[in-house]
Formats: sequence, C-alpha cells, structure tokens
Amino acid sequence: TRENGHGLRTPIVAVLGHVDHGKTSLLDKIRGSTVIEGEAGAITQHIGATAIPLDVVSKVAGSLIDPSDFDLPGLLFIDTPGHHSFTTLRSRGGALADIAILVVDVNDGFQPQTLEAINILKQSQTPFVVAANKIDTVPGWKPNEDAPVQQTKEAQSDRASSMLDEQLYEIIGELSDEGFSADMYWRVQDFRGNIGVVPVSAETGEGIPDLLTVLMGLAQRYMKEDMAIDVTGPGAGTVLEVKEEKGFGTTLDVVLYDGTIREDETIVVGGLDEPIVTDVRAILKPRPLAEIRTEDRFEKVEEIAAASGVKIAAPGLDDAMAGAPVRVVRDRDIEEVIAEVRAELSEIEVETQEQGVVVKADTLGSLEAIANAMDEAEIPIMRAEVGDVAPRDISVASTAGEDKHKTILAFNVDVLADAEQQAEDSDVKLFESGVIYRLIEEYEEYVEELER
Ligand code: GTP
Ligand code: MG
Repeated sequence: TRENGHGLRTPIVAVLGHVDHGKTSLLDKIRGSTVIEGEAGAITQHIGATAIPLDVVSKVAGSLIDPSDFDLPGLLFIDTPGHHSFTTLRSRGGALADIAILVVDVNDGFQPQTLEAINILKQSQTPFVVAANKIDTVPGWKPNEDAPVQQTKEAQSDRASSMLDEQLYEIIGELSDEGFSADMYWRVQDFRGNIGVVPVSAETGEGIPDLLTVLMGLAQRYMKEDMAIDVTGPGAGTVLEVKEEKGFGTTLDVVLYDGTIREDETIVVGGLDEPIVTDVRAILKPRPLAEIRTEDRFEKVEEIAAASGVKIAAPGLDDAMAGAPVRVVRDRDIEEVIAEVRAELSEIEVETQEQGVVVKADTLGSLEAIANAMDEAEIPIMRAEVGDVAPRDISVASTAGEDKHKTILAFNVDVLADAEQQAEDSDVKLFESGVIYRLIEEYEEYVEELER
C-alpha cells in the first residue's frame, strides 16, 4: 500500500465452507476478537472484511514465519456467511478473491456447500488451501493452545493422532474425488498443483500458525506479481452488499481490489437497469482488526487504497446490485467508464427466452452460476434478476403460458410478504434454496409430478 511505499496490495482471501464448519470462528481466532459472540445465534448475518497486517500475521505464526521474507502488506480476509454465495462474486475478468480457505469440519467431511464452493473455485481457478477444522474434537485430544499443528500432533496419544489422520485422509480422498491432488500441507512442495490440507482448531488455535504461514507463503510466492498495482490509480471494486445504514441511507459494502477511492469523487456502479453515476458522500472504514458488520461507529476517511473492505455512502444507490462493479471516474472520460461498467455487466447477462421460469438471486455472480446450471439442465429462463422476490416477479411469472413455467426459483434471497400472498393467489410456485443444484432438483421433481 501507499503507506509502506510498496506498490503491492494486500491479497484478498475468501473463507468458504459449509454452514457451521467454523469460518467465522477461524477468523475470530486469528483476529483474537469475539465477533462470534455478538452474532445472533452465532450465524453470520453479513459479509465482513478483516485486514490482518503482516506484523499480526507473523506474531500469530511465531517461529514459522520470518517477516523479513515478505513484502506483501498482510492479508485481507472476507468471511462468508453460510447462506451467502461469496464464491460467485467477481472482479474484472475473474474471481474477487486471490486465494481461498476452504473450511471443512473434520467430523462432517464434505457437505453440499463444500462441493459447491469447490466447483466454483475450480471454475474460477482460485488457488486454495483446506483448513481441516475442529481437530480438538478428536476423542482424547489434549489441546495445546495456539501451537503449530505438528507439535501438538506429536504430543497426542497414538490413538488420537491416528484418528485425526484417518479423518484427514478422508478429506484428502474427497478432494481427489473432485479431481484435486492433495496432501498434508507439510508434504506439499508446489501449492499451485497440489492442495495443502492444514489441520486446525478455531477453538484452541492449534494449527492457526500453520494456516497463516501457508497462506502468506502462497500469496508471496505465486501471487506477488498480481499484487503489483498502480496503488494511486482510479479505484475498482465489487459490491458485496447493498445496505440501509442509519444516517447514511442506502450504502454499499465494497471490496476495493485496485487503486484508490476518495471522498467527493464520481463513481459508476452497476445498477438494476442502468449504470448508476453518483458522487461519493462518505467513505467509511472499519477500524483495523474490526469487521464491517460489527462496527457501529465507522471511521470516516478521505481516501482509501486497495485492497480493502469499505462502506460507501452516496445518493441514488437504491438500485445497485450485489456483485456489480464499482469504478472511480477521476480524470477519465465518464462515458468511457460507463461503457466499461456496462460491458462488464453484459458479460454476466443471462440469456432469456420468451417462455420460461423467473429466477431471482442475491448477486450477479450467483445469477450467472444458476443460469449456467439451468442451461445444462435445459430449463428455459424468462427473466433473471438480482434481488428479493417482489410482487411484480409474481405478476411476471403468472403470465407464463405453461404451468411448469409459472414458477420462481429464488437463490439466497428473501420473499417479500406481499409477494408470498400474491403467489398463493395466482398459483405461482416458489422454490427457495441456498444450494443451486437443490433448487434445480426440486424444480425438476415438480415438473415430473406435473407431467405425471
Ligand atoms: P455460518 O456462518 O453459519 O456458515 O457458520 P460458520 O462456518 O461461520 O461457523 P461458526 O464459526 O459460526 O461455527 C459454528 C459452530 O462450530 C460454533 O458453535 C463454534 O463454536 C463451533 N466451532 C467452530 N470451530 C470449532 C473448533 O475448531 N472446535 C470446536 N470444538 N468447535 C468449533
Ligand atoms: Mg459464519
């Protein structure tokens, strides 16, 4: 970043995994804060971003890391609530995350959302490591708080140690079923061709030094060139969430992956119908080591550089979409920037037919992923949009010619109360799920029943 004089930005690390496998706890442990305790029912309601500077990384990693080996400024972690599809968020020409941690509960192994995450990591060619979490739950395990994993493993009984091995080999086997060659991380030489499995406990901190060491090494070794950006150029980012914020109106939670953004600058944001052109009223920053979603008082800043998670307050953001691009205009021609945003949006545009179902999804990227899956399943789409299911969606679906098309497939979005009532009244069938293939399966079963 600018502050330390390097032209290297912080790598963006996505934390993915099945519900309850320990994503938030893992970040929490790294951060040493207690975000999880502030969460309703310990479920993450929103995406948060946490910057862990290099000095903290090396403090946690202890003897495993020599900070002088690194010149990347640290790591920016993005937590993903189990119900959200961070995996489908994009940046210019690729995945938003530079690296990912796939969290897998050693007791549960691979679950539907683990597989969905794997598929999207595969498609987007995002390098990742597997955090095999909850090793402290192995029967007979004797925790050694915050210890490197090999050290604590050696201190266990033979029985506990080999039970853990069994669970780890199961995960390695499941990875291999998905086409990845994987091994315990300490045996992996080339982390691009092989997936390293890092046994950890978000509860006791065991293995966390290893996880940070592997991530930092992966980023430094293979990603340094991608991290070299024009740190003072006009900012580029992706909308994570569109949120109402007291005193600010509609705001955007944005991950800035390139350049800078300044107060009062004109930005272009992907909107439901047209790109939105507006002026930044305030840039709100979570304090270092804090999460956007737990911060009740934001820190106003004049300027911020990539990579960072920021909240942007500006007028006219109501139609902004999660997953859409954000661009700072600065000294460029505004029409060019609008065209750029439009071009990026059209890349994601879903092909629609005159007859078909209505699809609603939480982000542009997930809409694209669903459309691809539906194309494969040969289910035609009449309308596809980002956003909650609203009464007008029901109206659109009810005009379909065939009963099997009088349906709405809703992915990770809410159904507004009056929409639900209207669906009942007009015989429009609603399908809701946070897993794409379930949505499609349920729809296909429904069609089979109709045709019986
Ligand atoms: P969602 O955000 O809902 O998808 O869940 P998550 O993946 O963020 O899981 P979370 O961190 O909320 O953890 C789920 C539960 O598992 C909580 O009750 C945690 O206390 C527990 N847990 C997480 N990691 C560990 C671990 O390493 N050991 C033990 N024993 N429990 C853990
Ligand atoms: Mg969580």
